[in-house]
Amino acid sequence: MPYVTVVGGETFEVEMGKKLVLALEDSGVNILHQCGGNARCTTCRVEVMDGNYLEVTQKEKTAFENKGIDEHLLSDDCLRLSCQILVNGDITVRPIMTVENTGKAAGPRPAD
Ligand code: FES
Repeated sequence: MPYVTVVGGETFEVEMGKKLVLALEDSGVNILHQCGGNARCTTCRVEVMDGNYLEVTQKEKTAFENKGIDEHLLSDDCLRLSCQILVNGDITVRPIMTVENTGKAAGPRPAD
């Protein structure tokens, strides 16, 4: 099974194919997911520090574009939406927006 490492946090094993946003949340990371995992809010975004996860989907590009986030930033900063990533190999991430650092509610839990 693959491992997810959170920068400055822990490394945990997750079941193959699990959504990254759920893997993070179920491991105690209070990442935001305010649109419920529908690639609209971008609050679930993470910076991918290591792992083969750099191919941004069209859904993600559209979501970032709608939020005014420059596409070049996606590749330069290795940003991905954790609700759109299925964990199929080891990955190291830095969650950007959490309940703790924003003071906001996480949002509805994305579907499995
Ligand atoms: S974009 Fe909203 S939860 Fe991922």
